[in-house]
Amino acid sequence: MATTVIENIAKLVQVEDTPRKWVAGQDMASLQCVDNAYLLIEGGLIKDWGEMPSCPQAGVDERIDAKGGMVFPSFCDSHTHLVYAGSREIEYTDKIRGLSYEEIAKRGGGINNSALRLHNASEEELYDSAMGRIHEIISLGTGTVEIKSGYGLNTEDEMKMLRVIRRIKETSPIEVRANFLGAHAVPLDYKGRQTEYVDLIINEMIPRVAGEGLADFVDVFCDQGFFTVEDTERILMQGMKYGLRPKIHANELAASGGIQVGVKYNALSVDHLEYTGEPEIECLLHSETMPTVLPGAAFFLGMVNAPVREMMDAGLPVALASDYNPGSSPSGDMKFIMSLACIRFRMLPEEAINATTLNTAYALGLSETHGSIARGKVANVYITKPIPSYEFMPYAYTTKLVDRVLLKGKRV
Ligand code: NIG
Ligand code: FE
Repeated sequence: MATTVIENIAKLVQVEDTPRKWVAGQDMASLQCVDNAYLLIEGGLIKDWGEMPSCPQAGVDERIDAKGGMVFPSFCDSHTHLVYAGSREIEYTDKIRGLSYEEIAKRGGGINNSALRLHNASEEELYDSAMGRIHEIISLGTGTVEIKSGYGLNTEDEMKMLRVIRRIKETSPIEVRANFLGAHAVPLDYKGRQTEYVDLIINEMIPRVAGEGLADFVDVFCDQGFFTVEDTERILMQGMKYGLRPKIHANELAASGGIQVGVKYNALSVDHLEYTGEPEIECLLHSETMPTVLPGAAFFLGMVNAPVREMMDAGLPVALASDYNPGSSPSGDMKFIMSLACIRFRMLPEEAINATTLNTAYALGLSETHGSIARGKVANVYITKPIPSYEFMPYAYTTKLVDRVLLKGKRV
């Protein structure tokens, strides 16, 4: 088996002797690191690490000199919509002029605007544009990504999107998980007939999507003006019957009951969470559901902040994802997501690092294999330019500091 050693690492960040499924509460503020380190990789997996004086000299096929840069586990981005056609900067200017996200959606803009563009795009065009975004996020340090459907809004177009996601999975070195989000918005031709659209999702879309093995998860935009708790329950029950674990959009626009319904159906994560109060925190505390906050969307739409500090003080884990999408977060830059979380939620850099690696790995169902530097985990890491401290990563909020990337142990 091919072995690689990364040597002269100023600091190896987020090492775990005993891998954890997630990091919660006060533990989020600690981060284990090794100074002046090496990292040994064998057959694409992390074999060992240690201090430079004990770095293996013989029997290594490839040596990579980190030249004093730090090594981090790759970001895991557990919430994106990065397969889409066109862009929506017109709505961006509408927003600047004062229209709200919901008002834009009501006018046929928003998600339905992307659905029209996606309908008119070929699978090839969608794949090419999405691969551009994939290459971009890889260069920014992301090694694992969840991608949602939800700009199809009819059976054929949802399947088209999911086939594109499958092709990305097969052809890219990044680890991909697919999430079926037929319930992203009510399509224009079902206006006033929301329940009929939910019936279509349940009776036609889920059986076909699951039948072709095109999705790992099922999602619903459970929020004010979108899908109700009742719609959500029906969709999640059917999804689970077909082996799809829920991961849902909840409480972005109102205290919609989305968090509670997510927990009730053992969702892997509930995402957004701007409108989270004590009952929601209490409910999450007795669950296996990862609360996931999306600071890019909150920043872009000028939303209130999710109560991240309260959640961590209560003992919850928190994950941070990019929500990369054309309408509410046109960026997949996880380093910038950390900066936003530090500045807007007053998360400590250690908390932000835990929230974008191990906790998002959990939210992808991958914390046993990804999200930290642990023996036996997949060797998804990035090497930074020389930096004075790990705090410098979120601090230098627009500087590109990811220098080199290894995915599955290989340089990309
Ligand atoms: O996560 N909140 C719902 N869906 C996306 C927005 C998608 C869009 O506007 O195209 C989100 O922010
Ligand atoms: Fe989203």
